[in-house]
Amino acid sequence: MINLRSQTISGSEVLPLIDGGKGISISNGETCGAWAAAGAVGTFSAVNADSYDENGNVVPQIYHAKLRTERRNELIRYAIAGGIAQAKIARERSGGKGRIHMNALWEMGACEEIIEGILQEVGGYVHGVVCGAGMPYNLAELASKFSTYYYPIVSSARAFSALFRRSFKKYTEFLGGVVYEDPWLAGGHNGLSNAENPLTPANNYLRIVAIRKLMNEFNLQHLPIIIAGGVWWLSEWEDYLDNKEIMPIAFQFGTRSIITTENPVAKAWHSKLMSLKKGDVKLTSLSPTGFYSSAVYNKMLGDLLERQNRQVAIVEESSFIINFLGRGINVDPSRRDDVKAWMQEGFTEAMITPDGTLVFVTPEQAKQIVSDQKSCVCCLSVCRFSSWCQHRGSTGKIPDPRTFCIQKTLQAIAHGGDVENNLIFAGHEAYRFGEDPFYANGFIPTTSQLVDRIIAGY
Ligand SMILES: Cc1cc2nc3c(=O)[nH]c(=O)nc-3n(C[C@H](O)[C@H](O)[C@H](O)COP(=O)(O)O)c2cc1C
Ligand code: SF4
Repeated sequence: MINLRSQTISGSEVLPLIDGGKGISISNGETCGAWAAAGAVGTFSAVNADSYDENGNVVPQIYHAKLRTERRNELIRYAIAGGIAQAKIARERSGGKGRIHMNALWEMGACEEIIEGILQEVGGYVHGVVCGAGMPYNLAELASKFSTYYYPIVSSARAFSALFRRSFKKYTEFLGGVVYEDPWLAGGHNGLSNAENPLTPANNYLRIVAIRKLMNEFNLQHLPIIIAGGVWWLSEWEDYLDNKEIMPIAFQFGTRSIITTENPVAKAWHSKLMSLKKGDVKLTSLSPTGFYSSAVYNKMLGDLLERQNRQVAIVEESSFIINFLGRGINVDPSRRDDVKAWMQEGFTEAMITPDGTLVFVTPEQAKQIVSDQKSCVCCLSVCRFSSWCQHRGSTGKIPDPRTFCIQKTLQAIAHGGDVENNLIFAGHEAYRFGEDPFYANGFIPTTSQLVDRIIAGY
């Protein structure tokens, strides 16, 4: 047994264990309520969450409007209805125990409007709002307005310092803690900065110490640092527990909590996770958000990574000219043989990128890319794939065919879509499902069994 003491989180004494928010619809009211019922903290995702009709069926998020800006309004309505529905389920399932948190991607489209819309209806059920993927400066004011605790997700002391000095210092009453997410290990989007090398992980412990020092400086010594990214057996974290340099701390699980009976992901997703080997999760910069993210290496990720290799630079003058939409484009003549080979393999369509290159795809891929870009529903504040920008309507850049519509693929995978051709976010320790005896013979624990196992140190 490890020495795991309960802690005050979002105003109540609970286990210092948190199920991290997972969009789209992977952590929901059911999973969140189950974690809370186990005396811990559950988080439902408010990223385009599912809502239900009067028969309890999921309302398909179908978009009717012709104009992109009108589809955005439809998305906001779906998202608010979904968040309200999940909060109500979480509340009911929790039986009033534990804590209920809500997660949103700060750079999702209309994030503040959606959080506000949900809190206006069910603010009393939501004890904390957790935001990452971006710098949630306005989160402090927004959550405090509803007397809801708020939690930024950061990957460095520098990010927290900027948030605190510019905004949070005015709203310390409802700051609930700081989630430190290891950007080299955690599943989903992460806060790796451009100055950091995706291949060279930094010392996790030193980064946490730096955050604690800063929190002490800001008089926040009583608030927990919630450690996320690569957490599996707590017995491996014993030197972090009761460690005066960093305490109080709590732990957030993202990948491990996907395999429970309450989690909605399909059997095929479970099987995929169980089959992973070390190194099968990749940290890439392919997301249309522009953030780094970690996901399972499957056909979709493989195709996108290969696509990046089929690029040729556009140059001022050249003896090598490629036909692009009826006009000739000069490209690097030294790549003539490569381009010829790509074309022979069926990658006959050239598409222009915002980085002054042409990328080669099959005619079917080209058609799909254009169709997905046209169907954009503005799920992000800024999107590299479609050039959507919620402040100006467009980023002014060429839409980037090297990335993809994250809304489309995450909705698909959340609702039974194919695990090879959709994005599966996962942390780098996901291979441990296949090695951990807890999951032997396909055992799927209930959340309560998982929490007991975690408390036992395994
Ligand atoms: C499938 C999946 C989806 C995720 N989606 C989100 C999300 O929407 N918002 C968020 O803040 N974090 C998201 N995360 C990150 C988790 O909340 C958690 O912090 C992270 O997975 C912890 O690292 P671990 O995967 O090593 O446990 C996601 C993680 C996974 C695996
Ligand atoms: S193209 Fe897709 S990912 Fe990009 S903003 Fe539109 S809906 Fe979202």
